[in-house]
Amino acid sequence: AGQPGLFKAKLTAAPATARFAADRDTPILAYNGTSPGPLIEAYEGDRVEITFANRIEGEQSTIHWHGMPVPADQDGNPMDPVAAGADRVYGFELPEGSAGSYWYHPHPHGKTAEQVYRGLAGAFVVKAKADPVPAAYGDTVLMFTDLRLAADGSMPDNTMNDLMNGRVGDHVLVNGQKNPRLTVAMGAKRRLRLYNATNARFLRLAFDGAAMTIIGTDGGLLGKPVAADEIMLSPAERVELVVAFDRAGTATLATLDYDRGWMGPGRPADAGLTLLTVDVSKTPGEAMPPLPERLRPIAPLGAPAVSRRLVFTETMAMNATGMEMGFLINGKAFDMERVDIVARAGETELWEIVNQADMDHPFHLHGTQFQVIERERGGKVAKPPYLAWKDTVNVARGETVRLLLRQERPGQRMYHCHILEHEQLGMMGILDVE
Ligand code: C2O
Ligand code: CU
Ligand code: CU
Repeated sequence: AGQPGLFKAKLTAAPATARFAADRDTPILAYNGTSPGPLIEAYEGDRVEITFANRIEGEQSTIHWHGMPVPADQDGNPMDPVAAGADRVYGFELPEGSAGSYWYHPHPHGKTAEQVYRGLAGAFVVKAKADPVPAAYGDTVLMFTDLRLAADGSMPDNTMNDLMNGRVGDHVLVNGQKNPRLTVAMGAKRRLRLYNATNARFLRLAFDGAAMTIIGTDGGLLGKPVAADEIMLSPAERVELVVAFDRAGTATLATLDYDRGWMGPGRPADAGLTLLTVDVSKTPGEAMPPLPERLRPIAPLGAPAVSRRLVFTETMAMNATGMEMGFLINGKAFDMERVDIVARAGETELWEIVNQADMDHPFHLHGTQFQVIERERGGKVAKPPYLAWKDTVNVARGETVRLLLRQERPGQRMYHCHILEHEQLGMMGILDVE
């Protein structure tokens, strides 16, 4: 495996049904009939051509390649919708060094949140030609989504509360299932790619009965492995782990409490949800090769030529139907006709994301990966514990996050809060790279 070549596939977005409750079907939206959509695995150096068929009744859609270094006009922007019933081909090359845990989801204007919570999202793993992580660890994607079911088995529409806080469901699913089970031999190590593909749920996670090591983030491997007791994934973030199962019995991955700021009543219980159960056999399995001490070099982005400041705020306004929340960047709501920032390809920029709102907002930028260099809250400045490539970073309420980035390709790129209801209500802008 691993010979670069042409990777071709077809993704059809269409209505489907899923069995979440024992006795009734739930209407969903699915890529190729499944939710999450099919796992796409391609190699660095590959040319990718994916035909998208939009068979969602009466709705535009797109496929956005979240986190991937694709040309702007192939990135499924809201400015490039695919009409209901239409097809288009997305084509791009996967550059050397682009190995990482990406994903794909719709991005049509005003409909992203709904199409995603109804089931449209899938993982896109770009594999390295020479991977330092032992193949014996396997490679497993765990995609977390969030499900809410009405009594009749359907998925209810978003309420006012969902629009304000982002939609949080009643169940966190893993690859479309409630609390799936894995079986491993004692002593096994497993490479797990965790994806937060929920609209708005913050996942602070810990393993009970197994030891976690972080080996990668949104945009691929770290410089070196980092042992971790817990991990935090805000919506759209990913992490790559090596998990060691050295104790026979049961290991569980469960949520811990995290207060991300909640408006009004109905804050969901965050802690104590078991997402995954692993049965570890008493008989030891084959001996596992060790994880290398160095994974790959990450060069720090150098001194910035430009600096920018983005301020997140929330507003309340009265309109004909009552109070309406607005989610703004630098005082403005998203406008598809307006370019908010003009940047130059190849130039390093410092972005300062300031959250003056009452909720955490995970910041995401298309087209490139960035490096977080500093976080500031309550006058305290902290450096991140390790250098990493990221495309989404949580900006907690009252926090300022500073990051370095460099866009290499021209064209229009979106940046937005990845609580998808906030993106829908205006917390998005357009970066034009020249
Ligand atoms: Cu995952 Cu603009 O989004
Ligand atoms: Cu994206
Ligand atoms: Cu937000």
